[in-house]
Amino acid sequence: MKPTSLTTLLAALVVPAMGTSLPRGSADMDSVRQNNYLLGFRDQVTSHVVPMVAHPAPASGESLRRRQNGMTRLTNVRDFYYIIEVELGKQKIPLHLDTGSSDTWMVRDPFECVNIPGMGVRTVPNCGFTSGFQGEPSGGIVPNFEFARAYGDGTFATGFFGLEDVTIGGLVAHNQRVGFVNYTLWNGDGRSAGLMGLGYPYLTSLDIGGEEVKAQLYDPVFTTLWRSKTIPPVFSVALSRFGDQSAGRPKDAVNTKGIESFLALGGLPPVAIDEGSWGRTPLLPMDVLKKWGFKGQGERGFYAIAADAYVFGSRKGGVGTASEEGLSRNTSQFPVVVDIGSTDTILPNVLIKQLYAAFDPPAEYRSHQGRFWAKCGAKVPEFGITLGGKTFLFAPEDLLRQSERDPTGEWCRIGVYDGYDSEMPILGVSFLSNVLAVFDVEKHEMRFAQRTKY
Ligand SMILES: *[C@@H]1O[C@H](CO)[C@@H](O)[C@H](O)[C@H]1NC(C)=O
Ligand SMILES: *[C@@H]1O[C@H](CO)[C@@H](O)[C@H](O)[C@H]1NC(C)=O
Repeated sequence: MKPTSLTTLLAALVVPAMGTSLPRGSADMDSVRQNNYLLGFRDQVTSHVVPMVAHPAPASGESLRRRQNGMTRLTNVRDFYYIIEVELGKQKIPLHLDTGSSDTWMVRDPFECVNIPGMGVRTVPNCGFTSGFQGEPSGGIVPNFEFARAYGDGTFATGFFGLEDVTIGGLVAHNQRVGFVNYTLWNGDGRSAGLMGLGYPYLTSLDIGGEEVKAQLYDPVFTTLWRSKTIPPVFSVALSRFGDQSAGRPKDAVNTKGIESFLALGGLPPVAIDEGSWGRTPLLPMDVLKKWGFKGQGERGFYAIAADAYVFGSRKGGVGTASEEGLSRNTSQFPVVVDIGSTDTILPNVLIKQLYAAFDPPAEYRSHQGRFWAKCGAKVPEFGITLGGKTFLFAPEDLLRQSERDPTGEWCRIGVYDGYDSEMPILGVSFLSNVLAVFDVEKHEMRFAQRTKY
């Protein structure tokens, strides 16, 4: 990743209010502040902005946190991950960003990479990490605590905890607890050395089997930053659906408009949004996820919310008409986890069936490919999620991904798939690339604004 200086970012991007293009300069930021203030939000554009690269990797059908078995890998179908550069002491380390977990971990040399037992004769196992942390962490090693995380597809990362200063977005989490991995089974593709989790502290107490081990609870990086009063207890993400050209993206999918993805700590990143679209919705405790085996007793861990409604279909007067005639509205309330570590959005069975039927011709599950597809030329329905009274629409290119085709080239991957009610519902990148999402861990709420078309 080529870090872009903040000045360039601020100069390159304006923040229009209500869809109007404003002249560049500090007046834009003032109007954002004022709008937020009028709405009772205190979010301001912050200078603690970290540009991220949307990195396409071979699709695995996995979210970083909770991976599924049995998905076929197709080399021409890619998942999107977001990579940030973090400084550990003086070492720059690229990490995948995740909101569905809370640890920051990376490999440290020397480490051992292992194969899945019985997976045959790959003589030299390759976990696909770029170079990780070297040497001794400045605060030493935390005695008596093993670091151990496992994922549903058999991958795992184990090692120990160390203490080191972690610098991100110009902020320093001093003497931060970090997982240093020295024994792992992983399927990376050489672009990152580990993971940075932005979830609540509670998730750090879930050990390798998902069991709760209270003794292990600690403050992850973001918590350390806001508890030390460096920033307000808020972060926000604006994800671009475009990757970088160097990663071999097809030309039409490359970011040609200078729009990158951002993590903003303590406020908002400088991206264009529809100021009239702000909606707010409470963050729910882990108890709502009991069905998926989580406990939690009032603790917040994942960023779980419940939408007011899911809206889909074809407007009678066509896209953009004010009247919702022709659209169906499903107001069923269920928890859904906001997870930037998941490329796709995962929703319950009945709802997905309704959405897929609204494609023309209808979308299909094609089991031999372990994915959900529609004809690339299909008419894509409108699909929106109502959060805090405001409906946020998926862009058609996120619902039906034209650059992600099956081997016949006729079927395109759908960005929303069926969790058969056994997988936890997730709002992944396919939804998040349409909004600016604010995570407020003090008010325990999320705020969303629709991004202007990019
Ligand atoms: C990993 O590090 C721990 C703590 O230093 C050590 O006990 C263990 O032997 C190491 N494992 C490997 C595979 O290097
Ligand atoms: C709305 O979606 C939920 C979740 O899939 C489903 O259980 C419910 O039956 C749907 N409601 C209607 C009216 O179709």
